[in-house]
Amino acid sequence: GGGNGGDGSTEITAGTAPGFPPFEMKQDGELVGFDIDLLEAVIDETDYTLAGWEEFEFKSLIPALTNENIDVVAAGMTINDERDETIDFTDPYYSSNQAIVVREDGDFSPASLSDLSGRPIGAQKGTTGETTVQDELISPGNLDESNYNSYGNYVLAVEDLQNGNIDAVVIDEPVAQTFAAQRPVTIAFTYETGENFGFGVRDGDDEFTQALNDGLSTVRDGSTYQDLTNKWFGQ
Ligand code: ARG
Repeated sequence: GGGNGGDGSTEITAGTAPGFPPFEMKQDGELVGFDIDLLEAVIDETDYTLAGWEEFEFKSLIPALTNENIDVVAAGMTINDERDETIDFTDPYYSSNQAIVVREDGDFSPASLSDLSGRPIGAQKGTTGETTVQDELISPGNLDESNYNSYGNYVLAVEDLQNGNIDAVVIDEPVAQTFAAQRPVTIAFTYETGENFGFGVRDGDDEFTQALNDGLSTVRDGSTYQDLTNKWFGQ
């Protein structure tokens, strides 16, 4: 997709959903994060030019991509079969499991998903955290649907956890670690889902996808990927 850059290169627009630190978040009004830096570094390795970033709620990213409002999604998006029916993904660039985050005060320290039974909990709308709640808790009858709260973004979910409106948040582990470092919340336990994040691209945009995969492997082979990991995950 995309228009034409001044130098004849194809311009593309990227979409993300901030509120998912350290992958994408707003800092002093600026969009920053690992996904932002990584995608920009990858695009730098290609013949494409980035026209800019657009922000959406996470659940609106796939429609925005298929409607051609954006050309690529960089949003810690897990590659899975359901999404693969509608869009394509680049090669994976990060791995994650789900984490169950609770208040740091120690009043409630669940050790497994079944301990969440009967408790008000939350996740972000349209995410694999929400799918985990649905598939592992609600469907088997361990949690009443009325106990599940679906948020437009994870910052709102963690704020509701902090103020006591809910007792746990189900969220990707690296994001849980970031919230735990910044707020009075902690990881109670992790739930292994073996997820891989990829950049989302339109079905059939094969040339662009190939360019991104080539760019990604160049960025991984050099020092850039490790530099960005150090910058955003401090390891
Ligand atoms: N990895 C999870 C998923 O794909 C959560 C992604 C949420 N991303 C965001 N930018 N809010 O569903």
